[in-house]
Amino acid sequence: MSEGGMRREDHAEDLPGLSSLRLDGQLAVITGGSRGLGWAMACGLASAGADVLLVSRSKDQLAEKAKQLADRYGTRAWGHGADVSDPEAVAGLKDFCLSQIGSPSIVINNAGINIRGAIDELSFSQFKQVLSTNVDSAWLVTRGFVEEMKRRRYGRIIHIASTLGLVGLAGRTPYTASKGAIVQLTRAMAVEFAPWNVTCNAICPGPFLTEMNREVADHPDIRTNLVGATALGRWGELKEIQGAAIYLASPASSFTTGSMVVVDGGWAAR
Ligand SMILES: NC(=O)c1ccc[n+]([C@@H]2O[C@H](COP(=O)([O-])OP(=O)(O)OC[C@H]3O[C@@H](n4cnc5c(N)ncnc54)[C@H](OP(=O)(O)O)[C@@H]3O)[C@@H](O)[C@H]2O)c1
Repeated sequence: MSEGGMRREDHAEDLPGLSSLRLDGQLAVITGGSRGLGWAMACGLASAGADVLLVSRSKDQLAEKAKQLADRYGTRAWGHGADVSDPEAVAGLKDFCLSQIGSPSIVINNAGINIRGAIDELSFSQFKQVLSTNVDSAWLVTRGFVEEMKRRRYGRIIHIASTLGLVGLAGRTPYTASKGAIVQLTRAMAVEFAPWNVTCNAICPGPFLTEMNREVADHPDIRTNLVGATALGRWGELKEIQGAAIYLASPASSFTTGSMVVVDGGWAAR
């Protein structure tokens, strides 16, 4: 399109650049926000101006974490204790958030667990526990908040999948099944929510040395098949998840939906 000889896309005001990554005045709900990758993403979003509601089961540390966010970044922050695999607890989270704080424009479904072992060493209840924590939670929490997003015709839903949603690994049947499900949940939600301008994307992290991995960090299998499987040959650092989270949470990602943003040191590239 041409205006006075200038192509429309040449107007600088239509090219906001870095400012489109700002999140000022937006509210983000981050499950599993008390530590690890969830905490790193909470810090990243708060640094871009977002107010943040941290959610995890152990609510003791959440008030202190919320205070740290508010002190460090000058935004508002809250904590709410809930098991996000439990429908009643998610209903409580929704009520608390909508009645006490407001409607989130950003939801990061990050809460997750891993139970490792060969299939014949695991119980069915362990399998279901991983599926329920990693998959039911993402479905329930999204269902809780998407209605308001649709009404406002704006929203950013971000699931935390894994490279193990894209590649297989021995001794991880529950976890890989759960993360593969998250990949497909992401695609289906992206298509379903698109008419309301609500995007849904996933981040697929590779190995990060969080509490989830600490007890197995020195195991030879981890050194060979996780860290050793990355092209960069190392653990990710927590700060290295922040850029992807800020981008997907922000107006900058308006044409990105149904995507897997892989932050794995080149593991899935091999
Ligand atoms: N670290 C990695 O290498 C890696 C790689 C790929 C993907 N991921 C994914 O990244 C996400 C975060 O993992 P992480 O490494 O940061 O693990 P983490 O340090 O163990 O943190 C997990 C978080 O989830 C919360 N949580 C667990 N179950 C919950 C439940 N039922 N309800 C509410 N909160 C719950 C935990 O708090 P409470 O225990 O207090 O509830 C904690 O805040 C997970 O989805 C994980 O699968 C991690």
